[in-house]
Order: sequence, then structure tokens, then C-alpha cells
Amino acid sequence: MTLSISLTVNGVARDVTLEDPRVTLLDLLRERLDLTGTKKGCDRGQCGACTVLVDGRRVNSCLALAVSHDGAEVLTIEGLAENGQLDPVQAAFIAHDGFQCGFCTPGQIMSAYALIREGEAGDDPERIREGMSGNLCRCGAHAGIIEAVLDAQKRIEDRAGDERKVA
Ligand code: FES
Ligand code: FES
Repeated sequence: MTLSISLTVNGVARDVTLEDPRVTLLDLLRERLDLTGTKKGCDRGQCGACTVLVDGRRVNSCLALAVSHDGAEVLTIEGLAENGQLDPVQAAFIAHDGFQCGFCTPGQIMSAYALIREGEAGDDPERIREGMSGNLCRCGAHAGIIEAVLDAQKRIEDRAGDERKVA
């Protein structure tokens, strides 16, 4: 049985035919669409390495059946930078050494990106730690990750302030 689905991935419409309805969104992204920035860690919903945004919400793509997301808008790490400029969350992770090996980093960044946009990051490191608790880091880069999220939120607020001044 083959199934056809249409997704918008990083702003681009993609039509995909699935030979197997059990294909996960993670495997679709990595193996069919060559978007390998999203990582497969545990493949069972425990590490957050596969985090992407689906219709603006954080999703562990290893647990999501692709076929269930027909018509969805998906944002992956490859879609964050705009016009050659890193997203403020990406820039803050670099500035604060929010990674070591980098394997968990795409998931951490997507999770942080969503947390800030959900208005849930705040300026309390403990609250951020809680909000990011679904994203594990085997390298122990959590201290830098929390600093990066705090800084990213500030960068985004500053940018919004600058845009208001220009408008
Ligand atoms: Fe999806 Fe670990 S690979 S949660
Ligand atoms: Fe290595 Fe997080 S940076 S697992």
C-alpha cells in the first residue's frame, strides 16, 4: 500500500509517497528529504535529539508517524537561519559553548527556539532547565545551554525593540 502526503518543510512544499505507513517523521526528514540535521539518538522518545517543530509545537519526530502529519508545517534546524544569518538561538549557543560533540544540539536549539516563542523561557535558569528537560546532553553541556537560552531570549527581545524603533 502506498500513501501520498504533502508537507511544508522549512517553507518548501514537499510531496512524498510512502511505501510503508509506519515511516516516522524523523526517517522521512533524514532519509527521504536529506535533512540530516535532525538527529536520531534513542529512537524512542527519551532524548530529544530528534526535536522539530510541527505547526509551531515541539515534537519528538522519532515518535511521530509521517502519515499523521499530512498538511503540516515542519521546521527543522536547517530552516532556522534566514538570509545567511544565524537565528539568535543558534548564535547564542555558539557564544556560550552550548555544546561539545554537537549531537544533541539541533534538538536543543529547536526546543529552545520553541520554548522562547511559547513565552515560557523567562529569566529563571531553573524554569529553563525544566522547559528543556526533554532534551538530554550526554556531554554535560547543560550549563552552557541554559546560558544560551537566557541570552537568546535577550537577543530576541533586543531585536524586537530595534524593529519597533525602526517602524
Ligand atoms: Fe527521538 Fe531520542 S531520537 S527522542
Ligand atoms: Fe554532545 Fe550534547 S553536546 S550530547
